[in-house]
Amino acid sequence: MKSPLTNDGLTLTDTEFRMFADLIRKHSGLDFDEASRFLLERRLARRVRELELGSFAAYHYRIRNSSSGPDELPNLIDELTTNETYFFREYGQLRALIDEIFEELQFDREKRGGRPINVWSAGCSSGEEPYSVAMLAREAGLKPGVDVHVYASDISRRMLSKARKGVYREASFRETDPHLREKYFIEKDRLWQISDDLKRDVDFIHLNLLNNSKMALLRTMDVILCRNVIIYFDIDTKCQVIETFYEKLRPGGHLLLGHSESLINLSTSFELRHLRRDMVYRRPLPGMDAANPWNIAAAAALPRSDHDGIDE
Ligand SMILES: C[S@@+](CC[C@H](N)C(=O)[O-])C[C@H]1O[C@@H](n2cnc3c(N)ncnc32)[C@H](O)[C@@H]1O
Repeated sequence: MKSPLTNDGLTLTDTEFRMFADLIRKHSGLDFDEASRFLLERRLARRVRELELGSFAAYHYRIRNSSSGPDELPNLIDELTTNETYFFREYGQLRALIDEIFEELQFDREKRGGRPINVWSAGCSSGEEPYSVAMLAREAGLKPGVDVHVYASDISRRMLSKARKGVYREASFRETDPHLREKYFIEKDRLWQISDDLKRDVDFIHLNLLNNSKMALLRTMDVILCRNVIIYFDIDTKCQVIETFYEKLRPGGHLLLGHSESLINLSTSFELRHLRRDMVYRRPLPGMDAANPWNIAAAAALPRSDHDGIDE
């Protein structure tokens, strides 16, 4: 019997490994170093087999020359991204978003000319994160489309298609209050379909965070959630993406990263804000420089609550 760990005799040479790693990093920011070499090899081998190409060199040629077949790069990206997510992930931070940031923004609504709060889930995977924001906003009495507009994007076409369908397995609900699941989903054959109303609350767009020209089309945001995405990038890409978020946020707008992520060594343009439920980053208002970077670094190094669960 064949071991699931063999790649049908396909082994990446050092040169092939560097060629693929460079190509993938340039296109998507995803960083495959020596430690993840075997993972890359396994995933590439799957595509080589599916396309019956016989070698990594032939596969590389195929990617670089889309004239020799349908554009393969999106399929490779689908193969390489890590899409782990679930509803109400890092719940304490979502509570801070709704109870503190949204509440403040609603209070200042006049200053925004009455327009809705724009919130963007950047790297939304199969949609659990933006749908969680939409559910919590509704629960807080905010009207989607009127009070808040939720945008969500991902580089993976397969994940976006899943998000748009809105059909989920049990695992996506590991941190979900059963009452909310009953309210916003319909069960069919042990799968859960999101309600049409909630589905309409989120605008999904295909977007590579490295594609500046497409990014320029996005409107200015009040809040950007980019959680558990930049951990997969090399340091230059992280800096580039954070800089883009700075440009996309209105002054005073908030940036929410995942609990294991921080801006240390990436940017000093943001200030760290201590909310009751969490610490978040904020683009300073004009004339208010981000606090001394040393203070930011010291504060960011403070342990953050890892508590994901439903309310203490
Ligand atoms: C681990 S998931 C995080 C999902 C969600 N934000 C959460 O925290 O549960 C990371 C997502 O980032 C996406 N991603 C990776 N590189 C990207 C890029 N260059 N542009 C846009 N999305 C990207 C992946 O496709 C994946 O769906």
